[in-house]
Amino acid sequence: MSHTNTSGLHRTADTYLIRNHLLTDVVPASDGPIFERAEGSVIWDTEGKAYLDFNSGQMCSALGHNNPRVARAIHHSSTTLTHASSVYYNVPQIKLAKMLAETLTAPLKRSMFIQSGADSNEAAVLFARRHTRCSGIAAFHLSFHGYTDVTRAISYCATGPGYGPTLPDLYAIPTPYAYRAANADAEPEWWRPLLTVGFELLDRQCPGNLAGVIVEPLVSAGGVIEMPPGYLAALQQEVHSRGALLIFDEAQTGLGKLGTMYAYQQEGVVPDIVTLSKHFGGGIALSVMITSDEIEEKALDGGLTFGHSHSSDPIACAAGLASLEEIIENDLPHTAQTIGRAWQARMRDLQTRCEMIGDIRGRGLLQGVELVRDPSTKEPAAEEAAQIFQICLKQGLLFSVRGPHKNVLRFVPPFTTTEAQLDQASEILANAIGKAFGN
Ligand SMILES: Cc1ncc(COP(=O)(O)O)c(C=O)c1O
Repeated sequence: MSHTNTSGLHRTADTYLIRNHLLTDVVPASDGPIFERAEGSVIWDTEGKAYLDFNSGQMCSALGHNNPRVARAIHHSSTTLTHASSVYYNVPQIKLAKMLAETLTAPLKRSMFIQSGADSNEAAVLFARRHTRCSGIAAFHLSFHGYTDVTRAISYCATGPGYGPTLPDLYAIPTPYAYRAANADAEPEWWRPLLTVGFELLDRQCPGNLAGVIVEPLVSAGGVIEMPPGYLAALQQEVHSRGALLIFDEAQTGLGKLGTMYAYQQEGVVPDIVTLSKHFGGGIALSVMITSDEIEEKALDGGLTFGHSHSSDPIACAAGLASLEEIIENDLPHTAQTIGRAWQARMRDLQTRCEMIGDIRGRGLLQGVELVRDPSTKEPAAEEAAQIFQICLKQGLLFSVRGPHKNVLRFVPPFTTTEAQLDQASEILANAIGKAFGN
């Protein structure tokens, strides 16, 4: 295969593109690879170099890059009905809504299809406000829900100066972060005082005006933080006792990735609203907000205007249908469990040789490794994490570095990842960790 002139492409990109640099990312686009093609868990750059994609693109290619069933569905839809009015129904949209409802727990049933994770969370906030006729929305202090104005303002792990004023009636509650809590080993319900204080603050700041609380059932960008057992059920009680709605943002945890179809199933807590995005469209932009008959009816009462030109696009819904079929027919939640267990076993083995691996967390295809300089003080090893990222990038392993201290390595390998690829990735990682910590 002939390869494109990479330095020329970099020059063109840096001249004509907004040089997007997520502050959380270690290597800016200008210094990174330019991707050209991909298949399964591997992506190649313009120089023909292969990378194991343990970031699943931007987590949207968790089915594996270029899933054949999704590709066929896109092709078919692109020659049948690419786009249609978002006012009227279309066939793929109806089929997708029915199939999705069959995977959900009652009373979750009604879908609204949009494009991005942020859109779906905007919709969830809007529906919670319309349903309750209140306006207060709370999220974790290490939350990430998107980069539109409302979702940026409730993405407390991504706050920074210079974005202009935030929006009114948005609040933070403490994230239960066991590894960095003083008493998590000694006290099974160590998280309860945090929950109580969070709601005491909400009751002072928005008395009688709480519309909803939005959380991820496993906090991803905030540092791959698992919810302590019992926390989400207790959260739901607090939320419902105030007449508000519980919203689960399952952008990163839903559709099989954590070993069940939805993460809420593992928690025994059915939220009032759930949002899905990321690999929902099998790589095509597609998101959804799902709720019950009752909430839908009350939210629509008196009329509601919401939607985008590309809402419910048939091509995206056809891709979503194919991705859902792929997940169900191949029992991908089970695959996620197998991959997750195999990856964690490798990480635990690595931890026996490197005590700077302070904590190993996550489930299925959402895994985190928290690095510290000293396991007793837990001083975050942010510089080392950045160095490890750079070494791995050179060696052909992609992942991301997240968390409030920028010291959590986050791995999201696609469902297509093989044992041999897990071995290869963990070897690259072990070598990089050895170099960064000098052992
Ligand atoms: C949990 C969560 N919600 C929402 C979003 C925003 O999704 P999008 O980038 O598609 O707007 C993200 C993106 O990373 C996310 O991780």
